[in-house]
Amino acid sequence: MKISLILFCLGLVLTDAAVIKQNKRFPDDFFFGTGTSAYQIEGGWDADDKGDSIWDYMTHNMPEVITDHSNGDIAADSFNNYKRDVEMMRELGLDMYRFSLSWPRILPTGVPNYVSEAGITYYNNLIDEMLKYNIQPMITLYHWDLPQKLQEMGGFMNPLIADWFEDFARIAYERFGDRVKYWITFNEGYQICYEGYDYVSKAPRLNATGVGEYLCARNLLLAHARAYHAYNNDFRPTQGGICGYTISISSAQPLNDTEEDRLALELHTQAEWAIYTDPIFSKEGGFPKELSELVAEKSANQGFPRSRLPAFSEEEKEFIKGTSDFFGVNHYGGGYVSFSLYDLENSVVPSTQDDIQVGSYAPEDWPQAASFWLKRMPRSLYIVLKRIHERYDGNVPIIVTENGWSTHAGIEDEDRVAYYRAALEGALDAMDEGVNLLGYFAWSLLDNFEWMAGYSERFGLYEVDFEDPARTRTPRKSAFIYKQIIKTRVVDHGYEPHSYVMTIDEGH
Ligand code: BGC
Repeated sequence: MKISLILFCLGLVLTDAAVIKQNKRFPDDFFFGTGTSAYQIEGGWDADDKGDSIWDYMTHNMPEVITDHSNGDIAADSFNNYKRDVEMMRELGLDMYRFSLSWPRILPTGVPNYVSEAGITYYNNLIDEMLKYNIQPMITLYHWDLPQKLQEMGGFMNPLIADWFEDFARIAYERFGDRVKYWITFNEGYQICYEGYDYVSKAPRLNATGVGEYLCARNLLLAHARAYHAYNNDFRPTQGGICGYTISISSAQPLNDTEEDRLALELHTQAEWAIYTDPIFSKEGGFPKELSELVAEKSANQGFPRSRLPAFSEEEKEFIKGTSDFFGVNHYGGGYVSFSLYDLENSVVPSTQDDIQVGSYAPEDWPQAASFWLKRMPRSLYIVLKRIHERYDGNVPIIVTENGWSTHAGIEDEDRVAYYRAALEGALDAMDEGVNLLGYFAWSLLDNFEWMAGYSERFGLYEVDFEDPARTRTPRKSAFIYKQIIKTRVVDHGYEPHSYVMTIDEGH
């Protein structure tokens, strides 16, 4: 007893600069990682026999849709720099690293009659390099770079996407599953379906408002379930890993504490993410009730012969229910929601916004990131984690698969440091209140091609010099802070790096 008291006091003296707001620490088996995605970092867009993705196609044919007219042809050149990337993971002391596979690098035409051995070799090299240093790979099968050929056949509008995706997933499990134990099928259904098919802020920019997203969501969920069952039935018994699904959730809150605004929040939740998660995690299965009813009623009034959100059959519901071993959540920003904030005058009909007629806003005085859509909402990650936990009982295991903050170029990134500290404190609070959080991935390991914003916004713990052919990587202040959190398992607001010289600690 006495000895531990002395050690405790000694600890306080030794860490006299420490400002640990709460007496909470991450458990030893909690895993920390960072995430990236193929198109955003790899480059090597036409290396060997790689096929074109929808992002290659869009950026080459419509460069004007990207803020700085750039593309991911070279990006951070991780295709050639993967060893340096792994070195950075060791510097940070990561337990895991989340990356995605470029579907057209592995299947140049999208389908598996021809598999690119060069593509397989690239990922084998990356996986083996990570495992050499005991860093566990987590693979996202799809992070937005569909083979262009499959897009020409309709992409996610074609129900055959379920066959195409299962075929691709099987190749990945077969070729990498002996060493990879963590799988994610899709990254962010809403961004794939709403932004790509309903709207124009991601490839393929279909702009089929009010129709595209819902059809895509239905096909995507069936494709996900196919890939999950393939793993569960045919690979898990011998490979023993887990397979899940990731969506993005903002920390929306009702503008006023009224029944009306709480209903607005529920509809916002259903449209933003529960449409992608209730079919998997809810007891009843299927799309959320209120949203389904609203869209069915509006569709009928608008002269559609059937609902723009086609329901699942009972058999499909059963097939999809329970098909995720964990709830993967990406989280960035948030705001207040209310029916009163909706801009009815400019409402596009039909559209997913018009279906629910909920508007949102974020107060002026919240810190603003380089991305126009990202503001730091107080306690936002905590809010999100609690909401998932409360929506789905059964103590669903959650993994934060992305969380981060954008700045402009530069090494001093105090805003990012403040963001990570607040988020991780929120994670600790949520865990303290019973949320079953298994791990956390910062987005991102390094600066990358930030989709429509090109290279104008930076999310990296490491800065990348995109002017330099070597794409040199330099740790930002936040890299040192994250490293310290991983090492000590506490969030210490007083910690300042002694210098900006990064080294690899013993054992990494
Ligand atoms: C995506 C990332 C992206 C990040 C920041 C997430 O929605 O998964 O690819 O870089 O947001 O915009």
